[in-house]
Amino acid sequence: MRFPAIIILSFLISGSCASNVGTATVDVDDAITYCDTQIRRTLHALHQDSVDYTMMPRNITGSDTTWYCSKVTPDEWCAGFWPGVLWYNYELTGDTAIMNEATNFTESLEYLSQRPIFDHDLGFLMFCSYGNAYRLTHNPKFKEVILASADSLATLYNPNVGTLLSWPRNVSILGGHNTIMDNMINLEMLFWAAKNGGDRKLYDIAVKHAETTMKYQFRPDYSCYHVAVYDPETGGFIKGMTHQGYADNTMWARGQAWAIYGYTMVYRETRDPRFLDFACKVTDVYLNRLPEDYVPYWDFDAPGIPAVPRDASAACVVASALLELQEYCSAHDAARYKDAAIKMLTSLSSDSYRSGQARTSFLDHSTGHHPEGKEIDAAIIYADYYYIEALTRLKRLGVHADALASL
Ligand code: GLY
Repeated sequence: MRFPAIIILSFLISGSCASNVGTATVDVDDAITYCDTQIRRTLHALHQDSVDYTMMPRNITGSDTTWYCSKVTPDEWCAGFWPGVLWYNYELTGDTAIMNEATNFTESLEYLSQRPIFDHDLGFLMFCSYGNAYRLTHNPKFKEVILASADSLATLYNPNVGTLLSWPRNVSILGGHNTIMDNMINLEMLFWAAKNGGDRKLYDIAVKHAETTMKYQFRPDYSCYHVAVYDPETGGFIKGMTHQGYADNTMWARGQAWAIYGYTMVYRETRDPRFLDFACKVTDVYLNRLPEDYVPYWDFDAPGIPAVPRDASAACVVASALLELQEYCSAHDAARYKDAAIKMLTSLSSDSYRSGQARTSFLDHSTGHHPEGKEIDAAIIYADYYYIEALTRLKRLGVHADALASL
C-alpha cells in the first residue's frame, strides 16, 4: 500500500465525553516537503561564503532570521543535531547532494571520539550524527567512530553509583556524582556498540544506569528530577534538584521528555517489561498535564501559566518517542499514544509553530535554558532534529494509517 499523504484520526480532548471529540490532521508529506525546503534554505545561507563544515546551526533567537552557528567543540552539546537533520532528510529524499552535505558536517565531529571525554553529551553528539550516518550507509569508518565514542562515554561510569557521570566539571559544585535525565538518551549509543562489535559491558552499564535512574530520579507521581546527585564512594543518593527547570520539585518539560524517550528506547533494547511499564508511567504524568494543543509550557509548574513560553522541542522529543512506544503497548495504550503523538505533530506542523518564510528553521517556540535566560521562545536545532525524526517515524507508520483513522 502506498503511504497516504494525510493521516487523520479522531481524538478525545478530555476523556469520556463524546462531545469533546475533535480531529487531528497532519499532512506528513507536506511536513516533510516543508522540512526539505527549510534545509535547502539553510544550506544556501551556509554556502553564501565558503561553507565551514565545523560550524553547526544551533539557534535562531529574537529578530534573527537565519541560524546562529556554533563551532564543533567538546563542550558544544548540540553539534550532532544538524548532521542528524541532514541524514534524516537524505533518508526521506534519497538526494545524494544532501548525503554529501551530511557526510561533510558529520566528519567534523570525528576528533571528539579520539580525545578525552568532556561530558555525557558525547552520546548526543556522536549518535545523532554518526549513528544515523552508519544506519543509512553502513560505512565501516562511521562504525569505528561510534565504537570509540561508546568506549569513551563508558569512562564516565561509576560502578559505586551505577550511573554515568553527566558533568565531571560540576562534581564539587553540586556535591557529588551527578546524573541528569538527558543522559538517558546517551545510553542508546552504548546499547548499539554492545550489539555491533563493542564490549558486552556497555550493555550492562546502560541497563544499570537505567535501573538506578528509575529508582532514585523520579518522584512518586513519576515526574523526574532533572539532576540526581550521589555519593561517589558509597553510591548513596544525596538529592534531586533542577538545573534547567523552574525549581527542584517542578516538572521541567524537556527533562520529562528525555525520560519518556529514554525509557522507551531502553525497553526496545532490553525487552524488559519493567522498562515498558515505567515508560508508560512517565508518559502518562506528562500527557495528563498538557495544555490543549499538546505542546507544553517550558516547565509544567512555571508560575504565570499560560503567559509563559512553550517548549516545542519537548513536544518533538515526546512525539517521536510515542510513535515508538505505541508499537510496544496494549491496543488501548497504543491508540492513546498514537493519538497524542499525532495531536502534537498536528500542532507543531501548524502556522502557530512553523518558522515558515520568516526563518530558515523548521519550528519556533522552543525554550533552551530558561533559568539562565538563554534560548527562550527560540528556534533550536534539537527541536528540528526530533521533529524530522518523528515525521520519519510517522511516514513509516503510514502503512497502518487506516488503523489510525478508525480510532
Ligand atoms: N541539557 C540538555 C537540554 O537542554 O535538554
